[in-house]
Amino acid sequence: MLIDGTAIAAEVRAEVASGVETFRQRRGRVPVLRVVLLGDNPASQSYVRAKKRAAEEVGIDAETLLKPADMSQSAMLALLAELNEAPNVDGILVQLPLPDHIDEGAIIRALDPAKDVDGFHPENVGKLVLGDDTLEPCTPAGIVEMLKRSNVETSGAHAVVVGRSNIVGKPMASLLLRRGLDCTVTVCHSRTRNLAEITRQADILVAAIGRAEFVTADMVREGATVIDVGINRVEDLTRERGYRLVGDVDFEAVREKAAAITPVPGGVGPMTIAMLLANTLTAAQRRTA
Ligand code: GUN
Repeated sequence: MLIDGTAIAAEVRAEVASGVETFRQRRGRVPVLRVVLLGDNPASQSYVRAKKRAAEEVGIDAETLLKPADMSQSAMLALLAELNEAPNVDGILVQLPLPDHIDEGAIIRALDPAKDVDGFHPENVGKLVLGDDTLEPCTPAGIVEMLKRSNVETSGAHAVVVGRSNIVGKPMASLLLRRGLDCTVTVCHSRTRNLAEITRQADILVAAIGRAEFVTADMVREGATVIDVGINRVEDLTRERGYRLVGDVDFEAVREKAAAITPVPGGVGPMTIAMLLANTLTAAQRRTA
């Protein structure tokens, strides 16, 4: 089975659009999202454009604040303070990665946790681990929605997460472990010994390594559910833009063994954006409750 992220994301977006309309009728305004992007990284620019367009499609007021790559950290902190204070701003997203001269941790800690629609602030990360209500990081939250809406059995399943980033791997592990999902969770990374031996035990395998087609068929158990978080550009001169997108999974080989698998593109990516919209609506509802 192919898990169609585009179709599931469309369902989530329709639900958010209806929530935004109810919010508008009750509050007399729409949720407001501000996206901050430093510099001109082409991948970041394309993600930010997609986020803004998707937000507008569900009726969220979205603006991108494009800043030069050499913006100072203090200027950036001043901008965030302004957005934190602005009564009409519900959600703030700082697109990562940031240029090297900026301390990413300091920027994330400067966000008002109530407006942190990425769920990266330590307060929100703490709540996630405790199982409290919070704004959940969009990519892992989107994966949970995909698993639920595709009726993948999670209770007691062995979930193996490959990758330990703060954006995907760590919050993914916390969510899968939670009451309600109830997975047995193993987290692997670049230093893991006998990686293939561990991934072959996975009922649910989440690949978030950031290396093109890293997960090969011999690493996957027959009948597993495979979630591919990777978005890697590989050179392809037959394409007009000169590259194609591939995941962290060798899709054509692994699909023969997996019971269910997400494609790239059209898998996790659209879900990440849909969950950002859901988080923006949630932030607006909680701020005005
Ligand atoms: N860069 C890659 N993924 C993400 C994400 O989910 N949020 C932000 N802000 N930046 C990212």
